Amino acid sequence: MKKILITGGAGFIGSHVVRLFVNKYPNIKIVNLDALTYAGNLENLRDVENQPNYQFVKGDIVDGDFILNLFKEHQFDGVIHLAAESHVDRSIENPMSFIQTNIVGTVNLLNAAKLIWKDNSENKRFYHISTDEVYGSLGDTGFFVEETSYDPRSPYSASKASSDHIVRAYHHTFDLPIVISNCSNNYGANQFPEKLIPLFINNICTNKPLPVYGKGENVRDWLFVEDHANAIDVIFHKGKNGDTYNIGGHNEWTNISLIHLLCKIMDKKLNRPEGESVKLISYVKDRAGHDMRYAIDSTKLQNELGWKPSLQFEEGLEKTVDWYLANEKWLNNVTSGEYQKFYEQQYVNR
Ligand code: NAD
Ligand code: TYD
Repeated sequence: MKKILITGGAGFIGSHVVRLFVNKYPNIKIVNLDALTYAGNLENLRDVENQPNYQFVKGDIVDGDFILNLFKEHQFDGVIHLAAESHVDRSIENPMSFIQTNIVGTVNLLNAAKLIWKDNSENKRFYHISTDEVYGSLGDTGFFVEETSYDPRSPYSASKASSDHIVRAYHHTFDLPIVISNCSNNYGANQFPEKLIPLFINNICTNKPLPVYGKGENVRDWLFVEDHANAIDVIFHKGKNGDTYNIGGHNEWTNISLIHLLCKIMDKKLNRPEGESVKLISYVKDRAGHDMRYAIDSTKLQNELGWKPSLQFEEGLEKTVDWYLANEKWLNNVTSGEYQKFYEQQYVNR
C-alpha cells in the first residue's frame, strides 16, 4: 500500500487535507505526524480517526533522529508538509520556535526523504506547503506571481521563506523531487481562534471587544480552507516536479470591510439587532511591521492544472460562522485548553 506522510495534520489546514486524502484515497495509507502544540487538536479528526488507512503519530519534526527513524520504518512514498508555527503575532513575541520548527524541522524532513529515496526517487514527491507572505507586502496595485522576488518581513514569513529556499536547494543540489505552493489567507472550520476570523466570531459570541489593528485598512486575499485542500490534492498529484504554484481566491478585502460583513452575518445568526456587533469594534495599536496588502495571482494553477475556487466569500464566511455556532463545544474546549486532554484520553489512557 502506498504511504503518504502528512505533517501538521492536527492543525487547521492539515486536518482538512488529512480528511480529504483519507476519504478520497482508501488505498493510500495516510500517516499524520503532529507534535500537538497549542495549535494541534485531534478533535478536528474525530470523523476519520478509526479509518483503516489512517494512522496518527505524535512527534516533533525538530527531532532529527526521530524523523529519520520514522522514515526508515514507514518508507513513505510522498510527504505533504504542513507542520509549522503559523501565527505572525506569536512570531513577533517568540521568533525562535519559528526558526526551529519552520526551518530546522523542514530540513530534518528533507534529509530523511533524501536518504530513503536515494536509490529510487521515481514517483516520489516532497510537497512543501507555504504562504504568500514570503513575497512581502504589495502597494495598492499588482499581484504576487510565482516569479515575484521574496521579501519576507515578519519572523514568520522569513522562516517560511527560508524553508522554501532550502526545499528548492535540495531539488537543485540533490535532485529531490519537490513541489511548493504558496497560498493566501485561509478561513473555515477548525481554525484556532487567534487568527482574525475565528477570534472575532468568538468575541462577538461572548460580547468581547474586536481588536482591529491600526486603521483596519490592511488587505488580505481570503480562500476557503476546503478549496486550499483541493488545490493541494491537485498539485500533489499533477504538479510539475520542481515547480511552484500560487493558490488564491482573487478575493481581496480590507480588514475593516471584512469585519463589517462578519458583524452583519453574526447579528443575523444570533438574532441581534443589526448594528449590534459592530459596536464591539475597538481600534488598537498596529501590529509591528504589519504587511499592508497581499493578493495572489493563481492563473498558473488554474490554467495548467485546472483548479479553481468553489465558493464565493460571502457564502464561505456564512458557512464558517454556521460551523462555529454549531460547534460551541469545540470552541469552548479550545479556549479553555480542554482539547489538549484529548490525546491522553484517546491514545495514552485507553
Ligand atoms: P496551524 O497552526 O493551525 O497548525 C500547525 C500544525 O503543526 C499543528 O497541528 C501543530 O501541532 C503542528 N506542529 C507545529 N510545530 C510542530 C512540530 N515541531 N512538529 C510537528 N508538528 C508541529 O497552521 P495552519 O494554519 O493549518 O497552517 C498549515 C500550513 O499552511 C503552515 O505551513 C502554514 O505556513 C501554511 N499556510 C497557512 C495559511 C493560513 O492562512 N493559515 C496560509 C498559507 C499557508
Ligand atoms: P491573521 O488572521 O493573524 O493573518 P495574517 O497576519 O497571517 O494575515 O490576520 C489577518 C489580518 O487581520 C491582518 O492584517 C492582521 C489583522 N488582525 C487584526 O486587526 N486584529 C486581530 O486581532 C488579528 C488576530 C488580526
